[in-house]
Amino acid sequence: MRSGIAGTGSYIPECRVTNDMLAARMDTSDEWIVSRTGIRERHLSAEGTAAMAAEAARRALEDAGMTAEELDWILVATVTPECFFPSVACQVQEALGAKKAVCYDLSAACSGFLFGLQTADAYIHTGMARNVLVIGAEAMSRLVDWKDRSTCVLFGDGAGAAVVTAVSAGGIRTGVLGCDGSRGDSLICSTGHSADGIPFLEGTGEDGEAAPTSLAMDGREIFQFAVRTVPEVIREALAQAEISTEDVSLFLLHQANARILTSIGRSLHVPMEKIPENLAHTGNLAAASVPVLLDEVNRAGRLQRGDTLVLAGFGAGLTWGAMVLEW
Ligand code: ACO
Repeated sequence: MRSGIAGTGSYIPECRVTNDMLAARMDTSDEWIVSRTGIRERHLSAEGTAAMAAEAARRALEDAGMTAEELDWILVATVTPECFFPSVACQVQEALGAKKAVCYDLSAACSGFLFGLQTADAYIHTGMARNVLVIGAEAMSRLVDWKDRSTCVLFGDGAGAAVVTAVSAGGIRTGVLGCDGSRGDSLICSTGHSADGIPFLEGTGEDGEAAPTSLAMDGREIFQFAVRTVPEVIREALAQAEISTEDVSLFLLHQANARILTSIGRSLHVPMEKIPENLAHTGNLAAASVPVLLDEVNRAGRLQRGDTLVLAGFGAGLTWGAMVLEW
């Protein structure tokens, strides 16, 4: 049994922060941020990851014409849960009343939604599930160091969701995922946990205070990784589907940086009209990036039944993934 996307939804919080608003608080400028990244504004969440995820999910269910009780599984891709437990997925289950759904979170940073879609596809393909809700949700504003201008200007908050369901034709055709743990240090954020102060563990520290969390990024390394790996993984997914870039209507790519998108377009010889951008008004939404973009193009009427789409993500881990699907 194949799977396809029956409905999409997204949620972007109300509080809008422009580059000029950041420049009023730290040593940066609209010119620096726009020229390096293409980002003009981002939105910050007072409500948190689970509430945004639940709202995006309600909108996706409505778009799919499905009730929460019909969901077999809820998968939430996030690196910014409010709690280590319960999972965001369990919190979403409660908010929606999706009583029979099995729920868990998965962590693959900005590739998380691709990992979730691929997992949903596998569950449906093997008959373990019929309807799977896949969500990417992030409150990156709670993770970044607001004193570090080199990273805090890049991210925003939001959530996107897709209802994945069994279909008899079309749907997900191919998916390719990859990871390289040896390059984990190039984009890293620790939990702040340490062995300090734990009784019975000798010599690890005295005071029991947790180390601060900190997001650290080697921007150039990530740039190189993205522009090299994303075209490769897209070519691989297209080759498996036995189609070429010309057969693809839209390439929905992780929205980290406009220069990365341009470079990927150039490398694949794809015109930029086929690579939609929304990062100017969202910033980098990590795992929420691809599903929010998907919902935006869906609601804008840019997707016709039978269109071939490519979805691709890349991020910390390092992780990456691409998928070919027929709308
Ligand atoms: N405002 C003004 N100046 C800044 C800012 C800022 N917000 N941030 C850094 N600078 C300064 C630096 O201090 C440095 O100054 P110096 O030359 O006096 O030391 C100068 O700008 C250049 O800094 P670099 O870090 O070298 O800037 P670079 O040109 O590499 O651009 C960027 C940084 C935009 C992050 C770039 O490396 C990039 O595009 N990387 C891709 C990675 C990416 O987009 N990551 C997003 C998250 S990861 C993901 O989604 C997978």
